[in-house]
Amino acid sequence: MSELLTVVLAAGKGTRMKSDTNKVLHKVAGKEMVNHVIDTADKISSKVICIVGHQADDVKENITADVSFELQSEQLGTGHAVMQARNEIENHSGDVLILYADIPLIKENTLRNMRKFHDDQSANLTIMTTLLKNSTGYGRIIKNENSEIIKIVEEDDATFKEKKIKEINSGIMCINSNSLIKALDDLDNDNAQDEYYLTDVVDTVRDEKGKILSYQIDDEEEITGVNDRVNLSKAEKTIRERINKEHMMNGVTIIDPLTTYIDENVEIGADTIIYPFTYIEGETKIGSHNIIKPHNHIINTKIGDHNNIKNSNVIKESTIKNECNIGPFAHIRPGCIIADGVKIGDYVEIKKADIKEKAKVPHLAYVGDAEIGSQTNVGAGTIFANYDGENKHKTIIGNSVFIGSNSTLVAPLNIKNRGKTGAGAVVTRDVEEDTTVIGVPAREYIENKDG
Ligand code: UD1
Ligand code: MG
Repeated sequence: MSELLTVVLAAGKGTRMKSDTNKVLHKVAGKEMVNHVIDTADKISSKVICIVGHQADDVKENITADVSFELQSEQLGTGHAVMQARNEIENHSGDVLILYADIPLIKENTLRNMRKFHDDQSANLTIMTTLLKNSTGYGRIIKNENSEIIKIVEEDDATFKEKKIKEINSGIMCINSNSLIKALDDLDNDNAQDEYYLTDVVDTVRDEKGKILSYQIDDEEEITGVNDRVNLSKAEKTIRERINKEHMMNGVTIIDPLTTYIDENVEIGADTIIYPFTYIEGETKIGSHNIIKPHNHIINTKIGDHNNIKNSNVIKESTIKNECNIGPFAHIRPGCIIADGVKIGDYVEIKKADIKEKAKVPHLAYVGDAEIGSQTNVGAGTIFANYDGENKHKTIIGNSVFIGSNSTLVAPLNIKNRGKTGAGAVVTRDVEEDTTVIGVPAREYIENKDG
């Protein structure tokens, strides 16, 4: 097969979204529509060109793959958008694949199969179509008595009879570069929307006696066009079902897939069990044999193996190693590293904290900008006072330290190995090894052995 040049159209205004954000930057499963399309295109193409126009800078900034851009400064229609890549198309000999950035669910395999069909049949133009019960809003496929495509009619231009046609244009086409150039040069905007329709390339290829085929697919969800927020929610539902299914096939238990929301790039190991109402977002990686109870929200986080993540936690941009107990109702904010066997218990907020093996923060505490040594216990109600109104300061706690309930630790502060604080202590000065401090402000406590 020849090299494949793919043109992705992402310049349109997307007015039906009624949004300040460009339509193609709206996310499905945590990833912008345009990135879904480009990432898929990237896997099968030798080159990808993205046509940008409306809010071009925003769109360019958000595209993660290495593509080249062409600017469509006025949005005069899908055909006009492709014209912006005319030079590249002219210099390319072979197939050109055209994709719309608002069709985010298209699968790599479907595109490969369509391309193969196009080449096997030596077609000049192949259009991906499907049959819809309700074809409103889509371009309708008009065929002759030999089932060859002779025209595509847009909703606004269709007659009453044409509107009844159930076979629709997905917007995805594969076309020989010579046929495309000729057809682009013939396009006009003589239609209901005064736009240069890409769909009119059919007319030129037909007049030139080229071979035009439809590649009809059964899975209509794959080619859902997202033009408004209702379509967006449907696309979201479809992609989530796909993602959840893949995890389940890989050995993850998802108790209720309908209420489990996992972004596309998330990785999860086998025998992890996910309870309902859980959101797992971004680049999160979760190992195996974890239990994730209901109502967890986990964002860009690394979780090892055999952890028990109890109900209702928010965990963001942190690392949880192995065999930890988290929650219920813990808030783990960015920058935490939680080592093996740690317990972070009920109603605990932690931020930028390095918590070493088997340390415990079991109840009602705030821990910010801290290191906590192994086997240390932080009592209920402890507050790490890390902020003096201007700057944040760090608290370093050694191994096997005992922090009494309701202690306030005023940073910067060091509490060395096996140090202790009494209940309610306000600790403003460092505590040496094996030393106990009590009171407000805390002072060393020396036991009176004589009684
Ligand atoms: C288009 C098709 C229709 C098809 C439907 C499938 C045409 C004329 N119509 O209609 O046959 O059934 O998709 O979803 O092609 N764009 C540009 N520049 C423009 C206009 C649009 O780059 O000047 C881009 C948009 O960003 C979008 C894509 O092209 O990604 C499709 O445009 P849209 O306005 O959504 O076309 P539809 O009305 O959906
Ligand atoms: Mg559309």
